[in-house]
Amino acid sequence: MYVGLDLGTSGLKGILIDDDQEILAEASAPLNTSRLHSGWSEQAPSDWLGACEAVLGALAEGGRLGAVRGIGLSGHMHGATLLDGADQVLRPCILWNDTRSHIEAARLDSDPQFRAITGNIVFPGFTAPKVDWVREHEASIFAKMRKVLLPKDYLRLWLTGEHVAEMSDAAGTSWLDTGKRDWSDALLAATEMSRDHMPRLVEGSQVSGTLRDELAMRWGLPKGVVVAGGGGDNAASAIGVGVVKAGQAFVSLGTSGVLFAANDRYQPDPATAVHTFCHALPDTWHQMGVILAATDALNWFAGLTGKSSADLTSGLGALKPPGKTRFLPYLGGERTPLNDAAIRGAFIGLEHSTDTEAATRAVLEGVAFAFRDCRDALAATGTQIEQLLAVGGGSNSAYWLSAIATALDRPIDLPIARDFGGAFGAARLGMMAATGAGAEIAGQPKIARTIEPDTAFTEAFDAGHRAYTEARDAIRGLT
Ligand code: XUL
Repeated sequence: MYVGLDLGTSGLKGILIDDDQEILAEASAPLNTSRLHSGWSEQAPSDWLGACEAVLGALAEGGRLGAVRGIGLSGHMHGATLLDGADQVLRPCILWNDTRSHIEAARLDSDPQFRAITGNIVFPGFTAPKVDWVREHEASIFAKMRKVLLPKDYLRLWLTGEHVAEMSDAAGTSWLDTGKRDWSDALLAATEMSRDHMPRLVEGSQVSGTLRDELAMRWGLPKGVVVAGGGGDNAASAIGVGVVKAGQAFVSLGTSGVLFAANDRYQPDPATAVHTFCHALPDTWHQMGVILAATDALNWFAGLTGKSSADLTSGLGALKPPGKTRFLPYLGGERTPLNDAAIRGAFIGLEHSTDTEAATRAVLEGVAFAFRDCRDALAATGTQIEQLLAVGGGSNSAYWLSAIATALDRPIDLPIARDFGGAFGAARLGMMAATGAGAEIAGQPKIARTIEPDTAFTEAFDAGHRAYTEARDAIRGLT
């Protein structure tokens, strides 16, 4: 048996699978994010441990964990968890969707070695500019800092006592040489740091350590359970849905939106604002277009209307062509293709007849158009998508999937079970680490149905996307 733990932005999920990858149990615990100032987003690492204890406690009910051999970890990426020499947390973790460090990011990005070595723009959401912000604004904390861990790697420290990162998440720090799969001494030096600040690196499918005896006893696991490297949430989700070879891709409708494609080689093109990262398997890479607000945008709008997201989307019926109202989903800036931390969202084209339903459709279309920008950015690097799956909570909305399939002009396969996030992939990585298996155990899920693009509306969605980009260009710089 294997456990997968996925530290998500809104909660920690855990699942238990058997040797046939059947899901035996699942549990989750919610997490809060604090937004003290515009553009800020933080979590307390102690909350992650509390959530992990609750989830492992629930999975362990009835002595279910007695035959576990491996644990895999997945987590939201890029967060900076700063520890002192005694592994005490020095400040709340600055999360992936926190854009306060845009000045530091621009400064690091203007040093050509960052793009050359990491294959990526230094985005404000990435780890290095955040730590550089701490160096500028909280100098005493920077002086005490002895280790920087990514969020799931802080969970690992608690589980195993080891400072270890794995390649897929490490690639989102701006300190990794993504082609060589090693920390870059030059980039660390450029942020007044060294390799000593960094955890040891393993591949996602390798062993990173073993579960501490004290924790194994507490939840009834055997001694010596291995903890796999795991993956950043997107790479782990990809392992979970079998997106492991060139041509395979998924669209993720989570808090953020991701268009993810697996690659069998390293083919960076930072100018496109595409992310080029290591995959959680050796000798494999992946690319992503990332939009910062996907379900986050719908949930924001639901909050305004006092309805739930499901209420807003369930009555929409069959796909309609985009109307006059346009929504730009840039609630906290945007990554692909804009790399713009300052841009903010907008509704455009409101008129007397714009009701909640029309505005909801505009929100869903706006996110669909943002995914189309990601598709075009990936294509510009030479990445071809041959097969596309949908994952994430937002894929419960048939209307949204239909809008995305039509905006991308490509069928989308909807797996039967799709809400495990990175947890299922993490469990598979735990299985790989415990058994020595590889990509062959990361098959694709059964497909519930395929959502075809609605060709009657291809032109309307093309025109809608043109109007969307015009609206964006018009408001850029205004906020
Ligand atoms: C990817 C990214 C998000 C987070 C949160 O670059 O920032 O997908 O991993 O899920």
